[in-house]
Amino acid sequence: MFESLQAASADAILGLIVEHSNDTRAEKIDLGVGVYRTTEGETPVLDVVKRAEKILLDTQDSKSYIGTAGAADFNAAMQALIFDESVVDDRLVTIQTPGGSGSLRVAADMIMRASPGASIWVSEPTWANHVPLLTGAGVKLKPYPYYDTKNHVIKIDDMLAALREAPAGDIVLLHACCHNPSGLDPSREEWQAIADVIVERELVPFIDMAYQGFAQGPEPDAYAVRLLAGRVPEMIVASSCSKNFGLYRDRVGTLSFLTADTASRDIVNSQVNNLVRTIYSMPPDHGAAVVSLILHDDELRSAWIVELTEMRERLREMRALLNDALVDKAPNHDFSHLVRATGMFCFLGITAEQIARLKKDFGVYMVDSSRINVAGITPQNVAYLADSIAATLQNE
Ligand code: LMR
Repeated sequence: MFESLQAASADAILGLIVEHSNDTRAEKIDLGVGVYRTTEGETPVLDVVKRAEKILLDTQDSKSYIGTAGAADFNAAMQALIFDESVVDDRLVTIQTPGGSGSLRVAADMIMRASPGASIWVSEPTWANHVPLLTGAGVKLKPYPYYDTKNHVIKIDDMLAALREAPAGDIVLLHACCHNPSGLDPSREEWQAIADVIVERELVPFIDMAYQGFAQGPEPDAYAVRLLAGRVPEMIVASSCSKNFGLYRDRVGTLSFLTADTASRDIVNSQVNNLVRTIYSMPPDHGAAVVSLILHDDELRSAWIVELTEMRERLREMRALLNDALVDKAPNHDFSHLVRATGMFCFLGITAEQIARLKKDFGVYMVDSSRINVAGITPQNVAYLADSIAATLQNE
């Protein structure tokens, strides 16, 4: 049977983990996959997660099934974190999912059940895995302009113009904060304009919030979600705890549906639970139980905010450090968008040949689009990194 298969190509982002770990050069730098790293280059378990895990170990009295929607206490805490109290009402349903990717895929399957003819509009560019995740469910994608690769700004007018052409009922995938891959988010005024078009054209917002807390903090980063939730009858929100709780491999996320009324919410709730049963039956428990403990306990929650703030600030500092080093070492090139972007990512804005040279000659790894994860930068490696980039730019 399997003789009919041909090898699939390596994942553009995850493939870099293997390539980088096989590289024997001591000075190598991994700016590839989006995981947070400390100044020592490590991705440790958060202290607050360790504390919650100890509590869980002592107090958890069963590993029995919970159900397709996961744990109700986790879902309630996450719904409040995402939407805040003001919009947590009887039109909203939230389920626990296996990470943000699991959430996105269930959302796509739900879109196929509810509105199979609708297209999802995605930013150009968007997270590389959005495309296979969503099209794998059978949904059609259409691009809207987003990133101006020359000037390193958002093409807001072109984006709005494209969305004005979208037929009513189409879905618009938006990144709540820390746009992946560009790191550039709309301003609050721009979000208002996006919301205006969505309302006017009767589009359905579908928000991917994988980095809540990495731009400005959990509250300000939820601005777009809360703004749109107050203005539209229906929306979808996929959220991840991979980055902000550092629970990558534990697979923790949520999927929320805002519906037009309570009757519709009950139907959506039954459909999504039925759908989950046909895919993975129920989500993994451990990471969500940890998050629930943290969010329900004032002391643990404050400790989480402290660690989250440390991660966010380190990313911001590394952006400034690399930009300053490049001002010095590559004065003819403008990398100031490094400090205008937020979260883990931004584009370096260099060519495919330069990316290949950085890998081959200097052991510097980044995604083919020139997206870099700034968490790979440290005060120790920034000079080498800037020298490598400058040398690569000179030789072209
Ligand atoms: C990334 O974009 O690097 C992360 O979200 C990890 C992934 O799964 O691609």
